[in-house]
Amino acid sequence: MRKQYLFVANWKMNFNINQEFNFATHNYDDLIKLSEDSNTTIILCPSFLSLYDLNKIFKETKINIGAQDCSPHSKGPYTGQISAESLSFTECKYCIIGHSERREFNKEIDAEIAKKFMQLINHKISPILCIGEKLQEYKENKTLDILKYQLEKIFNVINTEIISQNLPIIIAYEPIWAIGSGSTASIDYLENIFTWLKIQIENLEKKINCKLLYGGSISPDNAKSLKSVKLIDGFLIGKSSLDFQEFKKIVEL
Ligand code: 13P
Repeated sequence: MRKQYLFVANWKMNFNINQEFNFATHNYDDLIKLSEDSNTTIILCPSFLSLYDLNKIFKETKINIGAQDCSPHSKGPYTGQISAESLSFTECKYCIIGHSERREFNKEIDAEIAKKFMQLINHKISPILCIGEKLQEYKENKTLDILKYQLEKIFNVINTEIISQNLPIIIAYEPIWAIGSGSTASIDYLENIFTWLKIQIENLEKKINCKLLYGGSISPDNAKSLKSVKLIDGFLIGKSSLDFQEFKKIVEL
């Protein structure tokens, strides 16, 4: 039997809103076809401005729409921020938080990411929490220490909060050195990391419905071998999600 997989397209800021609209409308029939496989969940994450339109385009289909970030606050004087409540009005079911690009360029810290996590939980939006180590940390064999630190604040929240309605919690391991670099982590390395991650989830006091994703330079050339890592439940795809034919190949491989 084929395994269940999640395919998350993180478009980052690569498209303008016309291109996001065109991607959705030009590839509509093919996207619907891909999503009709009961083992496949597709989540498109466009810019904030396209959330409403894309959710409308794919209403009553199996294509899901996710945001790329949310505010750690519920409301108030936070110019330029978007609340989880507003995301819920666009019918967003998923939201990426803690992406390494936000950690780096927006100086986001884990305590703030934990607040975003709670905002999303309160509005029944599944968080897609990104974690991962830098190249230097990888070279110094510090990966597990880094992941442990990044997960700790979130796990504290999970241990005290009841996550309602079996809401899926998604953790995406994205080694920063693999993002946009063309090189992915080796299969052996990923087997170890995902086994470790699975143990951390199993050791939580409160049981959660958790899915584990891999992200970083996924392409049609490496997707098949990445799918051989048993504990990976899906992929967070950057560059290859911008070209529908590449994205389709990754889904279908
Ligand atoms: P690339 O697939 O372009 O390496 O990006 C990965 C990523 O950052 C997805 O969130």
